[in-house]
Amino acid sequence: MRVQLNARNRAYQFEADPGARILYAGLAQGVHLPYECGSGTCGTCKARLVSGEIDDLWPAAAGRKYLKQPGEFLMCQCVAKSDCAVEVANFVYHMDPGACTPAFGRGTVQGPKMLTHDVISFSVELDRPLDFDAGQFVVMQMPGVPGFRGYSMVNFERAARRLDFVVKKKPGGGASEWLFKGGIGGQQVELFGPLGAATFFPNLGRNILCIAGGSGIAGMLAILSRAGQEHYFDQYSGYVFFGVRTYRDTFCLDELAQLVREFPGKLQVTVALSDEDVPDRAAQTHPALKFDTGLVHEVAGRHMQGKYQNVRAYLAGPPPAVDGAIRMLLLQARLTADNIRYDKFS
Ligand SMILES: Cc1cc2nc3c(=O)[nH]c(=O)nc-3n(C[C@H](O)[C@H](O)[C@H](O)COP(=O)(O)OP(=O)(O)OC[C@H]3O[C@@H](n4cnc5c(N)ncnc54)[C@H](O)[C@@H]3O)c2cc1C
Ligand code: FES
Repeated sequence: MRVQLNARNRAYQFEADPGARILYAGLAQGVHLPYECGSGTCGTCKARLVSGEIDDLWPAAAGRKYLKQPGEFLMCQCVAKSDCAVEVANFVYHMDPGACTPAFGRGTVQGPKMLTHDVISFSVELDRPLDFDAGQFVVMQMPGVPGFRGYSMVNFERAARRLDFVVKKKPGGGASEWLFKGGIGGQQVELFGPLGAATFFPNLGRNILCIAGGSGIAGMLAILSRAGQEHYFDQYSGYVFFGVRTYRDTFCLDELAQLVREFPGKLQVTVALSDEDVPDRAAQTHPALKFDTGLVHEVAGRHMQGKYQNVRAYLAGPPPAVDGAIRMLLLQARLTADNIRYDKFS
């Protein structure tokens, strides 16, 4: 099916295979269509159908609340049923030369491991290598679970044959039920990616501030991994704030502590516990890490006072945690919007 896309600045044409979501089809052909979540909640991919026929794969998508005008639809949830013309209000450009163009792929789940009572880590061995940037995510479809879910890569390498993930259970959630039911090793999943603009490149030339709520730490670990590989912290500082409810909910602390030991004085990691005082055993078990009590953006706000010069912030996690951090960084820290990159795990 041929899709004619009329953007604010120019028109594009691209092919959409039967069953392929219009957003993914356009992105796969290098057209930088507007999106954030890629999975039906944020409304950023809204477009208007001018002519032709589309099918809505998820009419109950939360992102539909942003559709106000007749003919509007979510490009990440709709497929073309005939040649069609669609319109978006945004400026749309081709992806930058050298950008990692997203593609469909498939892989096999390996090594699932419970990290806490409600957090699992697992890898996906890919059928073909994937290039991605540190901080990006893929959308994944599990067998028998309708729709795609976004998951940030924890690892970073070029031409990766394996993607690592850390996922927090959402009680009653479709993908959560699948991931946490046990016995998923060896199962095949479908992927589309890489996606996302909360990316880190070592030519950034700024100190890095990472504020993560829960499994939002996933993409931060990829950023820290890339920064570490490039000896970025020889020159710049890194401040990481990792928020969870209680000490029992913490995970990946050994990996974070190891990074702090590799870059003494240059990389600081503070774990924020929102629902309890810091137990004595926290500092005893992980002397390289700092611990504090409070919501993660409040803890970051306290610890970062006077350190905001030349900072790029990366935020990820549940929408309330990310929104709180964005407010704090705009109003209190006075960072410019360009220096606040985020992924809301909606
Ligand atoms: C950019 C991004 C990165 C993310 N990275 C991570 C991560 O690294 N770790 C992590 O734990 N979580 C991450 N998330 C959250 C994750 O994608 C899931 O929302 C979460 O795991 C809960 O999924 P669930 O299926 O259990 O819950 P559900 O409530 O069943 O689904 C959650 C989301 O899946 C989509 N969805 C649900 N039903 C359908 C359907 N029928 N058709 C189509 N789509 C549907 C919607 O987007 C919905 O909001 C990320 C989210 C985004 C947007
Ligand atoms: S990108 Fe389609 S709703 Fe978020």
